[in-house]
Amino acid sequence: MQLSKLFRVCKERLQWGERLKMANAATINALAYAIEARDPCTRGHSERVSRYAGWIAVSMGLDRKKIELLRVCARLHDVGKIGVSDRILLKPSKLTPQERAEIERHPVYGAQILSDLAFIRKGIPIILSHHERVDGTGYPQRLKKHRLPLEVRIISIADAFDAMTSDRPYRKALPLPEVVKEFKRCSGSQFDPQVVRVFLCLLEESGWAAHDFGGLLAA
Ligand SMILES: [Fe+2]
Repeated sequence: MQLSKLFRVCKERLQWGERLKMANAATINALAYAIEARDPCTRGHSERVSRYAGWIAVSMGLDRKKIELLRVCARLHDVGKIGVSDRILLKPSKLTPQERAEIERHPVYGAQILSDLAFIRKGIPIILSHHERVDGTGYPQRLKKHRLPLEVRIISIADAFDAMTSDRPYRKALPLPEVVKEFKRCSGSQFDPQVVRVFLCLLEESGWAAHDFGGLLAA
């Protein structure tokens, strides 16, 4: 192949790669906005979970590709809530066991919604398992720690941290000492003790300032 032709082919492939990246980013944003439109009370939740998860992953030495995928999965972890009816998703009072079971289907719906998107295919087991617990009492498959990828164990902590430190219509955000106590209490049952240790060290290093956590890792 002539040098000029080779150069043109390389340039076209680079441009195509860039266009594909932009299209993937637009898809991620569209899905993330769709989740927030369904439940405005959780506005910003997915973005913060993505930042906290990335922050933990960097500290645990995951490679760049794994961190990129982890952050996308964290951004879209609740995409399956799109498949849950408003009546249940936005219900202000206590859920019935049937309604709770329907909410607990959202990781399965999420995996189904994303199943045809090539850029997140490797992340589907992470989305599917984001409510599993290391003691095997989570959902939807009751998987124990040894069957949970590290990425799941990281997102689980990032997700719980943001939930506990955010105001919700039915309760105020917990103070940080209470949050730390909760992570210690659930270490080994809901959460992976190793990831809890890393996360609590990071919190301590940040000076326990919740509003600064996202700033430690550029979005
Ligand atoms: Fe979820």
